Parts: sequence; structure tokens; C-alpha cells
Amino acid sequence: MSLPSLDWIIALAQQAGELIRRERHHLNCNYKHQTELVTQADVAADGMIHAALSNSFPSHAILSEELAPSATTEHEFLWVIDPIDGTVNYAHGHPQVAVSIALYHHGNAVLGVVHNPFLQETFAAQAGRGAWLNRERIQCAATDDLRRAIIATGFPYHKDDVPTLMVRLQQVLSHCADIRRLGSAALDICWVACGRLDGYYESVKPWDFAAARLIAIEAGAKAGHYVEPPAGNPQLCGEHLLVSTPALYSQLHNLLR
Ligand code: IPD
Ligand code: CA
Ligand code: CA
Repeated sequence: MSLPSLDWIIALAQQAGELIRRERHHLNCNYKHQTELVTQADVAADGMIHAALSNSFPSHAILSEELAPSATTEHEFLWVIDPIDGTVNYAHGHPQVAVSIALYHHGNAVLGVVHNPFLQETFAAQAGRGAWLNRERIQCAATDDLRRAIIATGFPYHKDDVPTLMVRLQQVLSHCADIRRLGSAALDICWVACGRLDGYYESVKPWDFAAARLIAIEAGAKAGHYVEPPAGNPQLCGEHLLVSTPALYSQLHNLLR
């Protein structure tokens, strides 16, 4: 199997990052499904990444938030793209924003890049080879005590599940040191990978976590689900996702279940 190089994907993510930095100077906001913010930059960056991938890898399939959110996922090669993770942050001038690009081979994540163009931080991983932040090796924290743990989460655009979310939030807040809601699932997970956070849980879409999950695993973190995922590929199931230091995983799993 010959894979595209990680450097090629990093260059593509950085190119898309430059596009979204430029586009923030003349924002054009809309809403999908009435509540979900989307800007012209989300669509333009998705278009740029799509064009580059289709040009270089015409036989590969693409699942992406803006241009191909309903694509099927069972392919030899599948790219999973979030052109802007953290659109609400993006539109409000916050720096926690990322381009996320992952490559799956027969359902397994093999390469992943999460690039924050506002902080100039590029997280990357190759299955079996490790994870890097700006080309320096990263490792998750060794935290094993919930009372010392900083846990990130997020909340969906729709409000139907708020009562259930509050029950879990209360559990985590009661047992852990503190909580963060930073606004980009991909970066939350990469921040677990590099030890800035000790855990992350949320229900999200495949493009939100596909690259970051590989980065976290390659950095020594543990990833899974706090509620058993339905049949299918668990690597692409974002419902009830949990990523944490290995020692905290089962403790958080028990809290959230
Ligand atoms: C969102 C972010 C956010 C998470 C939401 C996602 P978007 O992605 O990752 O942190 O809480 O569930 O939808 O919409 O900015 O690409
Ligand atoms: Ca996202
Ligand atoms: Ca997005």
C-alpha cells in the first residue's frame, strides 16, 4: 500500500489554514439547520481541500462536513475532512480553530493532521509511528487522579439533550479538578494528546475527531466510547466519545456511563 506522505497533508492543511485566516477579514455568516453557524470560509476551505485530494487521489472517497457530509464510509481509502473545526470561535475572533484532515485505509485511521492557523500549531500523526506538534514528538499527560484532572467537553447546537448533558457535567465537575469548553473538538483531543488536558468527552461527527483521535492514540492516550457504540466501525462513531490519559479512562468511563 503506498500512502500519501504526512508532509503533503500538513502542507495542504496549512494552505487551507491560510485561506481561512484571509477570509476572516470579510466574514459572511449563515445558518444551516437554523442553528449551525457556517461561513463562506468553511465552504471555500472544504472546496480547496476537495480539489487537491481529487486531483492527486482520484480513486479515493471523501467525507467532509460542508461538501460531502452524507458520503458512504466503506472504501479502501477514505479522507475525512473538517475544513473549520470551531466555526463559532472563528466567527467571533477566537483563536481555537482548526483544519482537520484524516486518511482511513479499510476503516482504520492511518494519517491525521489538525492545524490551528491562528496559533500556528500543527498536530500530526501516522499510525504506528507517533504523534507530533510542530514536528516535535508529543505524549499525553500521566495524570491518574480525577481530582487533579482538567476535562474538556462540548455541547451540540441543538438543545434537546441539555438535561442529559447537565447530569454528566455535574458528575465530572463534582469529581474532577475543572472543566473547559474551548469550542473545537479536534483541538480538545489534540490538547489531550500533548498533555494540556487530561480528558475529553462529547458526542460529535466523524469529521470532528477523525484526525485528532489518531493523534491522541499515537501520543499514548486511550480513546473509546462511554456508551457502547452501535454496530459498524467504532473508529468512525462520534457518539459518546471519550479520550483521556490511560489511567483516567476507566474512572471517567464509570462517571459518564
Ligand atoms: C463543533 C466543534 C465544537 C463541538 C461541536 C462541533 P464545528 O464543530 O467541534 O467544539 O462542541 O459539537 O460541531 O461546527 O465548529 O465544525
Ligand atoms: Ca467540527
Ligand atoms: Ca466544521
